[in-house]
Amino acid sequence: MSRTPFVAGNWKMHKTIAEAEEFVSGILPLVGDVDDVQVGVCVPFTALQAVVDSTRGSSVQVYAQNVHQATNGAFTGEISIPMLDELDVHGVVVGHSERRQYFGETDAALREKVPALLAAGLEPILCVGETEAEREGEQTEDVLRRQTTEGLADVADADLARVTIAYEPVWAIGTGKVATPQQAQDACAFIRALVADRSAAAADAIRIQYGGSVKPENAAELLGLPDVDGALVGGAALDPKSLAAIVQAARA
Ligand code: PGA
Repeated sequence: MSRTPFVAGNWKMHKTIAEAEEFVSGILPLVGDVDDVQVGVCVPFTALQAVVDSTRGSSVQVYAQNVHQATNGAFTGEISIPMLDELDVHGVVVGHSERRQYFGETDAALREKVPALLAAGLEPILCVGETEAEREGEQTEDVLRRQTTEGLADVADADLARVTIAYEPVWAIGTGKVATPQQAQDACAFIRALVADRSAAAADAIRIQYGGSVKPENAAELLGLPDVDGALVGGAALDPKSLAAIVQAARA
């Protein structure tokens, strides 16, 4: 089965609407003709509508960076799936390690968020990954098993392949420290095997991204690994030329 590579840029808490529009003007001419790689940008809530509008009709898809699992309710400051759906976003990145570390995102919440997004027709990118202490304590597989199986627990087997999983070792995020190709391949193959425990067909079809200090200079090597189907890119996704170079590296 050949899986379409998926490169997503995660802007985190960067870019006003004006800055986001400038990025879109820069990237559209660079990736406009790419149809063999799925390209997405994960945009702050405030710029979502503008970026959805300015990328409409292009190959660039727009993702939010978080969502609440409830349809509505007394959750001050939160954003629901119907609110995002109304903006016409393509999907949402959930379970990013920064949300887990700094904002108390839990596997239990993700277990609800992932199927709720699918039910609304939105594509989830579910982030998983171990901290440095967990890797040193040889707990990497335990952590990946817990985060992956919990996040996918209430997704029907037939829908598993609509989820993208981003393997992001926490120690590699924003640090310039990249997982070795062997570490990235081993972790992504392990995650794929976890999906295979549920459904062999889904394991074959599901996309698994690597994330953590991906740059134009290291993208080709990481994206060439057999179980790495794309990248979730933070710092290097703030500049259109650099994200476009990573997209080009994903074209095998
Ligand atoms: P980075 O971030 O590319 O800046 O390491 C990756 C991420 O957090 O998704």
